[in-house]
Amino acid sequence: MPFPIRSRGVAALTALGLLLALAIGSVAQSATQPSTARTDPAPDTLFPNQGDPRYDVRSYRVRLHYAPETNRLEATATISARARHRLTTFDLDLEGMKVGDVRVDGRDAAWTRHGHKLVVRPTHAVDGTFTTTVEYAGVPREHTDVDGSTEGWVRTPDGAVALGEPVGAMTWLPSNNTPGDKARYTFKVTAPSSVQVAANGNLVARIRHGNQTTWTWRATDPMSTYLATIAVGKFTIYKSRTKSITGRRIPLWSFADPTTDTSATLRDVLPEVIRFEEKRFGAYPLASAGMIIDNARVGYALETQTRPFYPYGAGVTTLVHEMAHQWYGDSVTLRDWHDIWLAEGFATYAEWLWGAAHGEATPAVRFDRLYATPAENELWHPAPTEFVDPADLFGTPVYTRGAMTLQALREKVGGTDFFAILKAWAKEHRHGNARTAQFVALAERVSGEDLGTLFSDWLELDGKPTGY
Ligand code: ARG
Ligand code: ZN
Repeated sequence: MPFPIRSRGVAALTALGLLLALAIGSVAQSATQPSTARTDPAPDTLFPNQGDPRYDVRSYRVRLHYAPETNRLEATATISARARHRLTTFDLDLEGMKVGDVRVDGRDAAWTRHGHKLVVRPTHAVDGTFTTTVEYAGVPREHTDVDGSTEGWVRTPDGAVALGEPVGAMTWLPSNNTPGDKARYTFKVTAPSSVQVAANGNLVARIRHGNQTTWTWRATDPMSTYLATIAVGKFTIYKSRTKSITGRRIPLWSFADPTTDTSATLRDVLPEVIRFEEKRFGAYPLASAGMIIDNARVGYALETQTRPFYPYGAGVTTLVHEMAHQWYGDSVTLRDWHDIWLAEGFATYAEWLWGAAHGEATPAVRFDRLYATPAENELWHPAPTEFVDPADLFGTPVYTRGAMTLQALREKVGGTDFFAILKAWAKEHRHGNARTAQFVALAERVSGEDLGTLFSDWLELDGKPTGY
C-alpha cells in the first residue's frame, strides 16, 4: 500500500485530505493496484454492466459507411477521453459487430470481448487524456429490451434509424454507454446518393463523390449515448429557422420519409411548441432542432437530441412531449436510470400544460381524476424511483405518477415558485447530469419550504400517497 487512504470512508475525510489523496493517488498508483479507484463515480444502479466509470469521454468521431440494401455498416470510431487515474485496461460497450484494429494513442492495442464488453488493453497504460480508435463492421443487431420493445440499429424499409434508449447505442457505436458520460459528436456518414442521412446537431458538409455521398453532422452540445441518432433512408428534407425568446435563430432540420410523410402538422407547430416551452422552462438549451419521421416499426417516439424521432402518424402531443425532453432529459440528463422520472415525469407534465392551454383539462383537474385511481392500480406500484426491474423503466408510475409529483409540488409551493423551480433546474444543470436529491434540494431552496415528505410520498412510497 503506497498510501494509507484506501477505504470507502470518503465522508470521514476532510476536503483537504481528499485533495491530497487524489494528488498522491495520481502519482503513486502502480500497475498492480485495482483499477476501481475511490475517485470513480458509481456505476449506474439499474444497468451496472453498462459504461466504465474510470474514464470520461470528451468526443466521439464516427466515420460510417452504410449500405441500405444489405444493412451492413463499416465504421471507425475515434474516441477522445480522459482517464480519471492510471488504467492498464478499460471497457467500451459494443454488442455484435466484428472488431478489426483497435489503437490507443496511435499504437495497436490488444482487446478481448466478453458479452457486450470490448475490453481494451493498450501497450502503455493510459492516464489523463487518450484517444482510442476502433474499426468495426457488420450488420448491426437490433436490441430487444426486457419490456419487449426494439431499439438499437432499427431497420426500416429503405434504411435504418438508430434509437438508443436505454442501451441500444452499443449496437452501432463502441461507447461508454451510460447517461452520466456526455460527450460531443461528429458523424461522417457515407451512403448511396439515392438516400439521405440525418443525425444530431447541425449538418456541416454534404459531399457527393460518384454514387456515394458523405454527410457530416456535428453535435456540439454535450450528449448522452442514448440520445445519439443516425437515420438513413429516403427522406424529404425541410430546412428552416425559428427565433428563440433570446433572439437567437435556431436552425430547424426536419427529415420525413416521403412514403408516409405526415410531417406537415408537426413542422407547422414546432416553432410554436418551442416558444410555449421556452416561456415555461427557459431559453431553448440546444444548438439546433427539428425531427425525424420514419417508418420504423417501434411503438414509441424518442427524444434523440435536437432531432427527436417520431414513428409514422405521431401527433402534436407527442411532439410536445419529445420537445420538453430537450430541456428535461437531454440538456439536463439523469445521472442514473432510476431517476428516469426527471425526464418522463417532466415531459408528461409538459403535455398537461399544453393541453390546458388548448381547451383540455388543467393539470389540477387531471391530478384529481388520476388521484381517484384505486390503490391497487399499477399507477401506484412500484413508486417512480423504486423499481427494480428494468422492464418498469417506461412504466405508468414513471410517466404519470412522475407528472403528478410535479403537480403536487405546484400545489404546495404555488405557481410562481413552481415555474421558477422548473426554469432554475434547466438553467443550473444545463448540459449536465443530475439526480433526484438535487432536484429536491433546488425546489427547497427556491421555495424556502421543507419538501422532503412530499417527494418521498410521491417518488418512493409504494402505493398511493394519502392526504393529497
Ligand atoms: N423516452 C421515450 C419517450 O418517452 C420512450 C422510449 C421507450 N423506449 C423503449 N425502449 N421502450 O417518448
Ligand atoms: Zn418521454
